[in-house]
Amino acid sequence: MTRIMIVNGPNLNMLGRREPDIYGHQTYADLIKMISRHCQEKGIDVKIMQSNHEGALVDAIQQAADYCDGIVINPAAYTHTSVAILDALKAAALPAVEVHISDVDSREEFRHLSYPGMYCFKTVKGEGLAGYLTAIDALLAKIGL
Ligand code: DQA
Repeated sequence: MTRIMIVNGPNLNMLGRREPDIYGHQTYADLIKMISRHCQEKGIDVKIMQSNHEGALVDAIQQAADYCDGIVINPAAYTHTSVAILDALKAAALPAVEVHISDVDSREEFRHLSYPGMYCFKTVKGEGLAGYLTAIDALLAKIGL
């Protein structure tokens, strides 16, 4: 069975409470439900993780290399700083899609640069939480499902 990993970076556990004008009112639990339902409908297995710690995100990506067919990643603030996450994606060598809830390109200048995005074959931004489903579908199309 196809298995994908969804990797979420810092502060995404605060969805619903965190800057709702930018990230909306739905919670992280709502996001997990939405992704789980979508993947069930697609007949694929999904592992969803979130961490506020850069090294834990690197560990998860490395582990994905052993048992997953692809990665959807929202590195959150580490998007704009983390060469370590970029290198982990390169090491795992799995197809990967980057997703951002907000439209990072229309926000502050420092959000325009993405290190993990240099590896990902696609970036989805500004679609709200639904962007995760767009990213999953793009990943599945790439994998050949
Ligand atoms: C984000 C955008 C990042 O710039 C920010 O640091 C986040 C969330 C998004 O999903 O829009 O934490 O990745």
